[in-house]
Amino acid sequence: MLFKQQALLRQKLFVLGSLAIGSLLYLVARVGSLDRLQPLCPIDGRFGPRGQDEIPLRAMQFKRGLLHEFRKGNATKEQIRLHNLVRKGGTRALLEMLNLHPAVVKASQEIHFFDNDENYAKGIEWYRKKMPFSYPHQITIEKSPAYFITEEVPERIYKMNSSIKLLIIVREPTTRAISDYTQVLEGKERKNKTYYKFEKLAIDPNTCEVNTKYKAVRTSIYTKHLERWLKYFPIEQFHIVDGDRLITEPLPELQLVEKFLNLPPRISQYNLYFNATRGFYCLRFNIVFNKCLAGSKGRIHPEVDTSVITKLRKFFHPFNQKFYQITGRTFKWP
Ligand code: A3P
Repeated sequence: MLFKQQALLRQKLFVLGSLAIGSLLYLVARVGSLDRLQPLCPIDGRFGPRGQDEIPLRAMQFKRGLLHEFRKGNATKEQIRLHNLVRKGGTRALLEMLNLHPAVVKASQEIHFFDNDENYAKGIEWYRKKMPFSYPHQITIEKSPAYFITEEVPERIYKMNSSIKLLIIVREPTTRAISDYTQVLEGKERKNKTYYKFEKLAIDPNTCEVNTKYKAVRTSIYTKHLERWLKYFPIEQFHIVDGDRLITEPLPELQLVEKFLNLPPRISQYNLYFNATRGFYCLRFNIVFNKCLAGSKGRIHPEVDTSVITKLRKFFHPFNQKFYQITGRTFKWP
């Protein structure tokens, strides 16, 4: 994928991916005079400011974080790199933190070129024009979260550049799913709408099993999405970022990314300071300019029934094991 009109380009794309988990609750009930075992999902359905009826569940919009970077210059398609970002994996934090590097320029908006048929039909020139100005020695990064999970995207990117590098940021799957839910919940609350509780969405009330139709759950099955990408790209073209560690210890994670991207190490501890009020690391660009991420990053999650969490973790466990095996990066996920 190439961009920027005047000239020739070099670019790199990044996509981030993450996933969610669903879980369910089983109880034993004695009904009438019959002793029978009945799976119950004692999950209260509604959650919202006005206690109205549940609103119909619509297919949740999947946004996948794609970080996409490119350079102006004489770069060929082979020089383009692409990174996958998973929604609620810490995609914004990673993008902003990488932008601390003097050789990295970020596109401020999500472009949604590869995941949106209408945009894709507009062609690569359209895409390039969406990119910010960058000098030939710089990398431009874009993040459009739907790339990781959208079926057509790997092939489209492969057609653009088969040797692109991909970066995937993941968090512990259950936490990511709850984060995903929290974002949607906040949107509903803003519109003064009621919404289901997480437990209700994550657990199928008929089977009391994890509801794999719930997108926040499906997204957290990282290995499933990655396997689709692996039909096009070898695992060596991916780097996995630990989104949980990016929160608590961002520098070593960023240094691994610098290495993967063949960037000279430029991000230092000076660039990252912990803000106790926010409870997160913030960014220091120089002596006068620093910033924290927006308040929409780092939301307080609603409390989730522990049995549901346990169920979800159990559900994700085998997928996680496979993910570790494929990627060669192991996390201490339960
Ligand atoms: P929560 O809101 O669940 O805490 P994304 O940008 O992909 O939507 O990811 C959002 C997540 O980034 C937040 O999830 C937050 O935990 C995480 N994050 C990582 N580093 C952060 C930082 N320095 N400031 C704020 N949020 C950060």
